[in-house]
Amino acid sequence: MANLVAEEAGRRNGGRELLLRTPRLLVIPADCAQATGIQACFDATPDYFVRTSGRPPGPDDAVRLLADAEADPDRRVFLLVPRSGGPALGVLDLHLDYPEPGAAHIGLLLVRQACQGMGFGKETTAALEGALRRCGYRTLRLAVGDENPGARDFWEGIGFAEAGRLDRGVTVYEKPLHGA
Ligand SMILES: CC(C)(COP(=O)(O)OP(=O)(O)OC[C@H]1O[C@@H](n2cnc3c(N)ncnc32)[C@H](O)[C@@H]1OP(=O)(O)O)[C@@H](O)C(=O)NCCC(=O)NCCS
Repeated sequence: MANLVAEEAGRRNGGRELLLRTPRLLVIPADCAQATGIQACFDATPDYFVRTSGRPPGPDDAVRLLADAEADPDRRVFLLVPRSGGPALGVLDLHLDYPEPGAAHIGLLLVRQACQGMGFGKETTAALEGALRRCGYRTLRLAVGDENPGARDFWEGIGFAEAGRLDRGVTVYEKPLHGA
């Protein structure tokens, strides 16, 4: 059933479907039904929250994220669930046509701590790039704070390049989506 939901539940943006396929993960469009799974991923990744916001994840972080996303027609949240079974292992938060049409911006890619370094982040991003390309998007962007150097290494390692610096130690990364 989960397979069916993930494979069939394309989200629409201006009539374009955004369907992510990865070898090992079901990438499930999230609504309030996935709040518990998202919160469990947050709770299992405390180092990221402490590093970036100075505190562990709050108990309502997933509910807040989903409420914000629900209010924004150009935002998509996905839950990453192993095809082999077991609990969700990650979350993807995506802004479409931001900051301009044809660009997408990753608000958050999070893989629970115990599952990091196993290729899931790379696999998810590759699937996202393919899905965006099929929908005609030209650029994928994201921002990383200086307090998160491991994330900078990750993004640079999969082909993102620095596109600018924002105030308060934030670097914007960008990857063009042209090509096959
Ligand atoms: C950043 C994150 C999404 C990467 O996902 P992941 O599944 O751990 O990364 P992968 O296993 O797919 O790694 C892919 C490559 O990046 C490298 N990499 C991943 N994390 C790295 C780190 N912290 N430092 C250096 N290199 C790193 C891996 O070595 C790997 O290289 P390889 O392909 O040459 O073997 C994950 O670590 C995470 O969720 N971190 C906490 C949340 C966060 O910081 N998100 C990013 C901000 S939006």
